[in-house]
Amino acid sequence: MLILAIETSCDETSCAVVQDGRLVRSNVVASQIDLHAPYGGVVPEIASRRHVEIITLVARQALDVAGARIQDLDAIAATRGPGLAGALLVGFSFGRGLAQARGLPFIPVNHLEGHLHSVWLTRDEPMPPEPKLPLMALIVSGGHTELVLMNAHGDYIRVGRTLDDAAGEAFDKVARLLGLGYPGGPAIQAAAAAASSPVTLPRAWLRGTHDFSFSGLKTATLHVVARTARGEAADVRGAGPPSADLSRELTGTEVANIAAGFQESVVDVLVVKTMRAAEQYGARSIAVVGGVAANRLLRERMEGACALPLYISPPEFSTDNAAMIAAAAYFARAVQPDCDIKPNLPLAASRLVRAGRRTPNQDASS
Ligand code: KG4
Ligand code: ZN
Repeated sequence: MLILAIETSCDETSCAVVQDGRLVRSNVVASQIDLHAPYGGVVPEIASRRHVEIITLVARQALDVAGARIQDLDAIAATRGPGLAGALLVGFSFGRGLAQARGLPFIPVNHLEGHLHSVWLTRDEPMPPEPKLPLMALIVSGGHTELVLMNAHGDYIRVGRTLDDAAGEAFDKVARLLGLGYPGGPAIQAAAAAASSPVTLPRAWLRGTHDFSFSGLKTATLHVVARTARGEAADVRGAGPPSADLSRELTGTEVANIAAGFQESVVDVLVVKTMRAAEQYGARSIAVVGGVAANRLLRERMEGACALPLYISPPEFSTDNAAMIAAAAYFARAVQPDCDIKPNLPLAASRLVRAGRRTPNQDASS
């Protein structure tokens, strides 16, 4: 079964052709990073406009690279939500329109369900074994930080989530604070590599829950930056907030030490809480998906701490891409020609719709 999938939930325009939900025949991703970098983050209006400009080209290229024609396809899928409304609308309308014009089934996909399925993707033949279920998945991206227990395709329980910032969002904000540019994750990772003595920063454990919080860490980092700029001791423990004015620029080594301390703190919490959740829910394997899964320290620490089979997709499949949407579409097979985008679509909705307990319109109130 050959699926053409389209993903435009944020700032990547992506189309992919995937065979039988796993074998990636093409995965074209047109990044808009250069367009948004001057603003330090994604500008929704610019994102939608760019999607409109290149979606046809990207879809054509995905078919060409896969060596497939439209008449070879069995279905078309597109991200329905969650994401930026204007951006979602471009890929979703394009996919639904193309499916209607060609008489093909149209499969709307939850973006988070796509991230979960990124660990099913491969370019190898014969294909490696599928991840064992139940799977404890850490979804870590610029928009999400969630722990999801996947019992089966379409059967998900969210066991934890961030109460404030997503981990990737915290990386992006702290990078801006340190003058490291956008996107912040790779920039912090690169700066941290030069650290000589990482600063100690706090960790929010939120004990008794599988939830996360990163806003306190962000504020603590801001205080350390201000204190360091005034030539005071950098360590946050026992110190009150610094005065607002920064008296001098930080040196490269100071930036590196703060970046490394921040990265340590985020990674430590993500790893420990994922292992605890996996143990408590009796998971048989663990997956780390979403843009932050590209982080080298996170990958190393997860590998070191995990006694279960661990699945972390290569960066190509962990940051936003359409191949993961095709995989989720294949395993979901929830054809819905007449639903609409839903910018705040919850993950659980996909199961309810599939089980036939709701109509696509009813879930608009969830
Ligand atoms: O999944 P994604 O491409 O888009 C969203 O759905 O948000 O994730 C993008 C996020 C950004 O916040 C970016 O800073 C972060 O993933 N990221 C990283 C790394 N590469 C990307 N964070 C930490 N370390 C990295 N190497
Ligand atoms: Zn994403």
